[in-house]
Amino acid sequence: MPATSSQTHPAAADPAASRPDTGTAADTGTAADAGSVGDASAGAVPEPQPQPAPAPPERTTPSPARRWDPPLVTRAEAALAATALSALGAVVVVSQLLDPHPGVRSVAQFAHLACVVVGLGSVLAVDWFGLRWRLGRGSLESVVATARALAVPIWLGLAGLLVSGMLLEPELSAPLTLAKVAMVTVTCLAGVLALAVGRRLAARRSPSPRLVRTGLAVALSSQVAWWSAAVIGFLNRT
Ligand code: HEM
Repeated sequence: MPATSSQTHPAAADPAASRPDTGTAADTGTAADAGSVGDASAGAVPEPQPQPAPAPPERTTPSPARRWDPPLVTRAEAALAATALSALGAVVVVSQLLDPHPGVRSVAQFAHLACVVVGLGSVLAVDWFGLRWRLGRGSLESVVATARALAVPIWLGLAGLLVSGMLLEPELSAPLTLAKVAMVTVTCLAGVLALAVGRRLAARRSPSPRLVRTGLAVALSSQVAWWSAAVIGFLNRT
């Protein structure tokens, strides 16, 4: 996949990234106010004048609270999350109404396994690049590029798992199956959050510790959910 402009020119994707690290308007405003106190003392009233407030220490980097941060999840990402969760709900309901032919079920079983390979394999590849970056053995650019390149296989794998899982007659009265549906819900949500974190990582030359921690938490929850769903599926197989 070719590099996009936000990868090659991070500042173009995020105004905050290109903002110079200078003092804020509030800082300069305070200094000006101090000067105006001195002007007032030019009046004829012979009372002792209050001392001007000491100027605040000069800031070289903006505090996190003053930095402009876009919302973590965009509308498109929120819509993707809503679509994925609605699809999962529909799969759960429709699977209880279907009685697939044994031949169809066999094909669905194979497709289900193939989609595990595609989806979980792609998630593993992205997280592997992320781990290498954290260990100092790879670049942030390679993590972002891998995440972008593998977003389509990840979501295609997940969609295929939903469609094929619908034809596998899940037994919703079994607690393990309900736990699996919960895990699939987490994979969907973690997938959307991973997109949001990847978008932010692409916009910054050096990501904040908070963003790195969020990325780590998303990757961990995603791995736990994918593997739990796979193990439960294996235990539930007939
Ligand atoms: C992250 C998503 C998912 C993963 C990683 C996953 C993984 C697996 C795996 C590894 C198996 C064992 C297959 C075998 O050994 O033959 C399996 C079986 C199964 N999965 Fe999933 N699955 C996922 C989503 C779903 C969904 C959404 C449903 C339906 C609601 C579903 C329903 C089933 C059923 C019913 C079986 C048992 C099939 C049988 O009787 O052989 N799965 N799954």
